[in-house]
Amino acid sequence: MDERERQDDGVREEELLELAARIAEEAGQMLLAKRPARPEVLATKSSPTDVVTALDRAAEELIRARIAEARPGDAVLGEEGGDTPGEGVVRWVVDPIDGTVNFLYGVPDWAVSIGVEVDGEIVAGVVNNVPRGELFTARRGGGAWLRGERLRCNTGVPLDRALVATGFGYGAARRRVQAEVVAQVVPRVRDIRRGGSCAIDLCSVAAGRVDAYYERGANYWDHAAGGLVATEAGARLGGLNGRPVSPDMVLCAAPGLFEELHDLLVPLDPERD
Ligand code: IPD
Ligand code: CA
Ligand code: CA
Repeated sequence: MDERERQDDGVREEELLELAARIAEEAGQMLLAKRPARPEVLATKSSPTDVVTALDRAAEELIRARIAEARPGDAVLGEEGGDTPGEGVVRWVVDPIDGTVNFLYGVPDWAVSIGVEVDGEIVAGVVNNVPRGELFTARRGGGAWLRGERLRCNTGVPLDRALVATGFGYGAARRRVQAEVVAQVVPRVRDIRRGGSCAIDLCSVAAGRVDAYYERGANYWDHAAGGLVATEAGARLGGLNGRPVSPDMVLCAAPGLFEELHDLLVPLDPERD
């Protein structure tokens, strides 16, 4: 479907972005208002450390309700509520709280992440780092933005000067491998950061707060919105050996550094479990 047909279908990417931003702000306000001093773990998911709180669920319900009010019939994929098929070309990809462990401990880096797909491609993305009051937005071909400023990732940074963000999965066996890999990376780079939110890590690449990010095991809802923010800020996003980004690997950095970090990672076989 080309751009004109899409417009005729009533799908305007700017409007999708505005709606995503409004919803992410409302969900963020609700979470801030309702976050108790010590949120309680409601359940665990893939492992005892993979937690969900009542507010993860409440935020996703709010987001789903707002999408349904504004655009009934759109599909939604949400971390907590799964895949709800729709009738058209638009699908919303939602992580109601990315950085739940930070949320639990009161570390001020957690985000509402909303990406919007048209025909399977992310065209709009919003990452609301709620405790910091930072709303990152991006539209396909329209740049990445924070507080009215256009974002540009750092360029020309060699691997040995690169500040590299990464993350660890919730399973112990996978973490062991991830620790082995990062042990080989840390002597080769400026330093490592483990921020606790994939979505914010990608926005940090966009904003030049880190130079690169890689993680094995991130899910689509973790990187859907932040990935567009990063690429619209000039970063390259992909997997290993020419593959697209996937739960096997998310790698993101400016061209040049992307390839250097890629070539460091590949022999370390970071996709093994
Ligand atoms: C997690 C965060 C974390 C990353 C994990 C994700 P959650 O998402 O993005 O930084 O390392 O892979 O699962 O559980 O906080 O939504
Ligand atoms: Ca997440
Ligand atoms: Ca989450």
